[in-house]
Amino acid sequence: MSERLAQRALCLDDFEAMSRRRLPRPVFGYVAGATERNASLRDNEAAFAEWAFQPRVLVDVSRRSPAATLFGRAWAAPFGIAPMGMSALAAYRGDIVLAQAARAAEIPMILSGSSLIRMEEVIAANPDAWFQAYLPGDAKRVEALVDRVAAAGFGTLLLTVDTAVLPNRENNVRNGFSTPLRPSLRLLWEGITHPRWSIGSFLRTWAKFGMPHFENSFAERGAPILARNVLRDFTARDHLNWEHLALIRRRWPGVLMIKGVMHPEDARRAAAEGCEGVIVSNHGGRQLDGTASPLRVLPAIRAAAPGIAVLYDGGVRRGTDVLKALALGADFVFVGRPMLHAAAAAGRAGVDRAIALLKGEIERNMALLGVNSLAELRPDCLLRVGGYSSTTT
Ligand SMILES: Cc1cc2nc3c(=O)[nH]c(=O)nc-3n(C[C@H](O)[C@H](O)[C@H](O)COP(=O)(O)O)c2cc1C
Repeated sequence: MSERLAQRALCLDDFEAMSRRRLPRPVFGYVAGATERNASLRDNEAAFAEWAFQPRVLVDVSRRSPAATLFGRAWAAPFGIAPMGMSALAAYRGDIVLAQAARAAEIPMILSGSSLIRMEEVIAANPDAWFQAYLPGDAKRVEALVDRVAAAGFGTLLLTVDTAVLPNRENNVRNGFSTPLRPSLRLLWEGITHPRWSIGSFLRTWAKFGMPHFENSFAERGAPILARNVLRDFTARDHLNWEHLALIRRRWPGVLMIKGVMHPEDARRAAAEGCEGVIVSNHGGRQLDGTASPLRVLPAIRAAAPGIAVLYDGGVRRGTDVLKALALGADFVFVGRPMLHAAAAAGRAGVDRAIALLKGEIERNMALLGVNSLAELRPDCLLRVGGYSSTTT
């Protein structure tokens, strides 16, 4: 059933329509939405349209491969799954499904610190998974979480740094979405009118594993996902600064990156602090509305931090988007919403299909562009056909 549904998707965008039908409005809005006027969300897509390809012809492309190497590890494709909080609310066992699909396809998957399944379970399903943390500016709690992530066996840690305070997501308020979810007649009605989600995902999880909690925000267990009076612990993230990063660097033995870098100076500082990489990202347009698309700052960040890995996320929906980001300096690309929509719509079969579709597009487009390897992707593969990017400064 899920398999047949997944096969109906011909491109990543198709999963969004399927997920809209499957999910209660508050949950769909949480996944698909952004913040305030959605200016950054729109720009994330628009920025890709401002670059066009300049293909080369009569190149023997029969040996082409989308394989990519990052931190000395070979991956089957140059993209991975971005960290998404509460994935297990949108899709049954969401984090496990994403982790298993990524493992089978040999691409990286990043577990969100705001997830509802214990990190120890997720890494058991995919020993190559990475962990993303939101950290409070409190040294003791930072150290305890970092130690737990290391003990669980993760080798790569990302610190998300674009969330000093909670953003202004009016769509969540309008749709009745909060964390934790507050029981209400409206929520009950949404559950009744979306039985495939409420029975097939929410109640199934509750019956089998108990009420989901935020499991990985700290070393200890956090709040439940459904509660009338409980407040989720968002303690003092606005204190977080470069000193905390230095503290983490001293304590964390593995690969360390910061996610949410949008300024070349911050990338330079991250490299100086000993980070192995940065993720150029505006959080899918979900934090400061009006932040530029990360694609616009990618070339300047690449130039500012030549010695570290530069990863990219935001608005990637097509193989052509992946190739453009790589040509503009990204070493690797991450995809958010479409993967969670695929999991919500058709579970593991959906995510398998989404990965296969994107990988297939990359392979086909490499041939049409006239390249055999991703290393051949350089800015001269592209022409700027509109708008503004930091390469013009
Ligand atoms: C539902 C959802 C939850 C997210 N949760 C997190 C999170 O917990 N931590 C984080 O660093 N980024 C989070 N993000 C941002 C993604 O990691 C990523 O930056 C963004 O989705 C990329 O844009 P895209 O959705 O257009 O691909 C979330 C995004 C979505 C859509």
